[in-house]
Amino acid sequence: MIEARSASLVYEDNGKEVFACHDIDLRVKDGEFIGILGPSGSGKSSLLYVLCGLKRATSGGVAFDGQDYSSISGEALAGLRLKNFGFVFQYPYLLGYLSALENVMLGYPNPGSKTKDEAEAQLRSLGLADKAHRFPHQLSGGERQRVCIGRALLGTKRVVFADEPTANLDHLNGMAVVETLVSNRGSGSLVMVTHDPSMLERADRVVTILDGKIHSV
Ligand SMILES: Nc1ncnc2c1ncn2[C@@H]1O[C@H](COP(=O)(O)OP(=O)(O)OP(=O)(O)O)[C@@H](O)[C@H]1O
Ligand SMILES: [Mg+2]
Repeated sequence: MIEARSASLVYEDNGKEVFACHDIDLRVKDGEFIGILGPSGSGKSSLLYVLCGLKRATSGGVAFDGQDYSSISGEALAGLRLKNFGFVFQYPYLLGYLSALENVMLGYPNPGSKTKDEAEAQLRSLGLADKAHRFPHQLSGGERQRVCIGRALLGTKRVVFADEPTANLDHLNGMAVVETLVSNRGSGSLVMVTHDPSMLERADRVVTILDGKIHSV
């Protein structure tokens, strides 16, 4: 469904090329849970950005259902992401002037009468039912991250990308968040970056990244 072919992401740093991703060949199949492991700076976040089209590969290609990201406009690519992908960023980005519930509802491209109920159900399953009305600054770091997870899971997403979703949580809450991602993703795929292998016990496949390259599949 998502296919990366020799995909590279090169940054320029003081006239030098930095390969954040280097010749990545990877397929994400329908419904599978792929874990991405690697040390800091190895290119894990960059790989997620390239796979979901938040960044375009500087060489090679990435396609979703046969549609290459480089062949469509930025606007069409944004529409494709909104409809099909959920994203949990490494840092919990929320809109400060919206409540937790309203932030979760942003995950839905076409809000309808059931959106609020679904958003409330997501917050409930993330243990935040009594905090739905709070603004982001009234939540702890881990709670904010869980709101981001609710937003990523809202609606039926074909792929949920999660970048270190458990980094701000203790082990038990981390395991609970992974469980929520795994069991609430419906028939969608899950691509999750972590530096903690114990969070990937339920993964179908674990990919290790070193210096922007896939080390083992
Ligand atoms: N805008 C940028 N310009 C230049 N180099 C960058 C830029 N963004 C990232 N890099 C470099 O690309 C490489 C991969 O970064 P990336 O953020 O993907 O790593 P990561 O594996 O997610 O690290 P972490 O575990 O610390 O989040 C690093 O060497 C980083 O310094
Ligand atoms: Mg990262």
